[in-house]
Amino acid sequence: MRVLVAGAAGMLGQDVAAAARRRGHDVAAMTRTDLDVTDPASIDRAIAEVRPEAVINCAAWSAVDGAEDDERGAMAINDTGAALLAAGAARVGASVLYPSSDYVFDGTKGTPYLEDDMPDPINAYGRSKLGGEVSVAAANPKHFIVRTSWLFGLGGGNFVETMLRIGAEQPEVLVVSDQRGCPTATADLAEGMVQLVGTDAHGIHHMVGGGECTWFEFATEIFDQAHMETRVMSATTEMMARKAKRPAYSVLGHSREDAILLQPWQHALRRYLDDRELTAP
Ligand SMILES: NC(=O)c1ccc[n+]([C@@H]2O[C@H](COP(=O)([O-])OP(=O)(O)OC[C@H]3O[C@@H](n4cnc5c(N)ncnc54)[C@H](OP(=O)(O)O)[C@@H]3O)[C@@H](O)[C@H]2O)c1
Repeated sequence: MRVLVAGAAGMLGQDVAAAARRRGHDVAAMTRTDLDVTDPASIDRAIAEVRPEAVINCAAWSAVDGAEDDERGAMAINDTGAALLAAGAARVGASVLYPSSDYVFDGTKGTPYLEDDMPDPINAYGRSKLGGEVSVAAANPKHFIVRTSWLFGLGGGNFVETMLRIGAEQPEVLVVSDQRGCPTATADLAEGMVQLVGTDAHGIHHMVGGGECTWFEFATEIFDQAHMETRVMSATTEMMARKAKRPAYSVLGHSREDAILLQPWQHALRRYLDDRELTAP
């Protein structure tokens, strides 16, 4: 299959392009310079050049706090830009996959959010991702909306890297223990997404690492697995004031029978730390 990956220099984009190649697809991995999702002419050029059968849109405004200061900027990429690319794909009969986020939910449910639960974002980033979901679905009938959460991958800054850096510099770290979610390795997510685009199971999917935890528990596991002595101290969300509100509970579950399940997050973390060693300069 001819697969166009937009945002191919991003953390997820790098793994998606690699996973698609491993599956034997003919992959056009396009960075922002090759394909700017906010520029219709750039989309037209890329679609005409590649003539894809599937488009995986890893281009995104991913700065959650930054979106509070520039919601229009986030919307331009996550909503309008995603819709333009989805429509470009539709014009050549290609499907489109749009990664979305647990942050489309308000975090008050208390049991895992299912694909058909009603979203109600509590921050600007979440609104831009929900806008993208709706616009992509309207622009291309062959759409896959894949909600995921708490990503860590070798191709970008992420929570694991932050913890390892802080742990190397100081004996203790303060981490919130009142937000629960599902850590997800981009390596696993990318495999799942590439598997999904080979099907006709269109619509909304939840795709996250197996299990759930708080950021505090995630940090504790990181230092355990990395054999570091760093002490993790529990903090509340209120103590760690951030610009954007975060949902307290954003565990994603499944109501679809064809849901693609990923390995438990602790196993994914082990593999991440091993791969990180192998690729260390
Ligand atoms: N990270 C998470 O924890 C998380 C959680 C849930 C969902 N997600 C979703 O997962 C997807 C991938 O996230 P990620 O963490 O891989 O993000 P990322 O590392 O920030 O990658 C996003 C990529 O998009 C590119 N981009 C930005 N604006 C663009 C434009 N106008 N046209 C084309 N490319 C553009 C960026 O390029 P520049 O570097 O040049 O700006 C970057 O390479 C996103 O849809 C995100 O919303 C992420």
